[in-house]
Amino acid sequence: MTRKHILEGFFTKILTRKNPEQMLATASKAGLEKTLTAIDLIILGVGAIIGSGIFAVVGIAAAGEAGTPGAGPALVVSMIIATIASIFSAMCYSEFSTMIPVAGGAYTYTFVTLGEFCAWIVGWLLTLEYLFGYIGVACSWSNYVTHFFQGLSVSGHDFSSLTQNMPFLADSYKYLTTHGVDIPAIFIVLVTTAMLIKGTKDSTKMAAIMVAVKLTVIGLFVVCGAHFVHPANWQPFAPNGYQGIFMGAFTIFFAYVGFDALATTAEECKNPQKDLPIGIIGSLIITTLVYISVALVLTGIYKTSGPVDQGFLDAPLAFVMNLNNVKYIPELISVGAIAGLTSVLMVLHLATTRVLYAMSRDNFLPGVFQKLHPKFKTPHVLTLLVAFLCIIGTFTFNVSDAANLCVYGTFASFIVICVAVLILRHIDPERPRPFKVPFSPLFPMLGIICCGGLMIYSFKELKDSSMLFGIWIVLGIIIYALYGYSKNRRAEMNSIEVNENDKDLIAK
Ligand code: ALA
Repeated sequence: MTRKHILEGFFTKILTRKNPEQMLATASKAGLEKTLTAIDLIILGVGAIIGSGIFAVVGIAAAGEAGTPGAGPALVVSMIIATIASIFSAMCYSEFSTMIPVAGGAYTYTFVTLGEFCAWIVGWLLTLEYLFGYIGVACSWSNYVTHFFQGLSVSGHDFSSLTQNMPFLADSYKYLTTHGVDIPAIFIVLVTTAMLIKGTKDSTKMAAIMVAVKLTVIGLFVVCGAHFVHPANWQPFAPNGYQGIFMGAFTIFFAYVGFDALATTAEECKNPQKDLPIGIIGSLIITTLVYISVALVLTGIYKTSGPVDQGFLDAPLAFVMNLNNVKYIPELISVGAIAGLTSVLMVLHLATTRVLYAMSRDNFLPGVFQKLHPKFKTPHVLTLLVAFLCIIGTFTFNVSDAANLCVYGTFASFIVICVAVLILRHIDPERPRPFKVPFSPLFPMLGIICCGGLMIYSFKELKDSSMLFGIWIVLGIIIYALYGYSKNRRAEMNSIEVNENDKDLIAK
């Protein structure tokens, strides 16, 4: 074989794409019930998006942490930047999800447009996004639980009697927590694991209740908190200038993670062409309004332009309410946050499992990952593996480190989706597109610039996280080279061969 043939074989392999027609036919045979309306999607979207971003990371975005500058009261500007970056990517997601309404989200779209290697990398990035999102939310869940019990003991409730008869338990708890073992986080991870293995359906009804709880608690915070706002706290507006604003936008982007999960429900929508864009963009708009109100009140109650208390970084909403000695509200906020974060945890655990499951079905990962529980018919091996990784993650990372890695994964996959929209417009211009990103190629390019710009900007501030992100990508490439590359997935997926356009591109 000549060098040219080897190279051609290599590129043909890594650019092998899935056939969208085949996938649509398989999806219609799969017969998932089509029950979701636009309103259901908005509820699911808000349920998946609003979580520790606004209950915890908001404090870090405003005040900064470990030498990273915070936005201060200019957090609202950071939020607007994050929303703009999300909207461009959301439009690209909508174009894909209406054109190819099958399950799988970004991983599937990449397989159809950019071929198997990019699909693997996107799957690997989504794993980073969802797994580290899961770790970050588990850490904040733990912070809110701890804060809740601390708040109760401060207000005169004594819990020491609970552990009086069990000194061994109390000592072990103390020993483990002082050695970095996050017991509450482990507890909630085990709970979500049991629920997911049992196959609790994340029904819209359940999501609606969680959304109602979260929005009520946030509404309570905004209304009560408005009374304690001192406009002097909004001065200086941007204590760390544009650096603080951009880093704030990067950090708070964590609060927007989740809307992409909506695209994975395309097969279950009554009318995906119309409803999915409404669901994705609608939930983003509602979320942004909620976030801006919280940011204004939070930075108005507490000065974020100087050093802040650790309690503000861990559980900012409850902390600032506690400062003002408001009765019951901090506890209510903590309970609402704990409930709200539990639903996000379920979504993120499920999403990590499903991405890895899809990759294993496509032969990128060993078949053992596809093993289903004999009774509950859920992928229990993967669910347990993800839980184990999350528990190890809670020993190693705090909320902000985990959130940063999650945001890197999200930005990188968004960039690929924006690029994929442009490529598919070029190589498959005739395919019906019920929703088209307006002003293409400008809007997808703006998506790439916003996500890429914030990412590159953060590299110099977040040296450790960006290095870990690089290691994650290299690890992904090594796993593909050692395992995925050698597997033949053409037979299983009826793929289409690299077409003449691609060959021209390779030749160039
Ligand atoms: N957006 C999700 C949250 O804020 C990840 O918890």
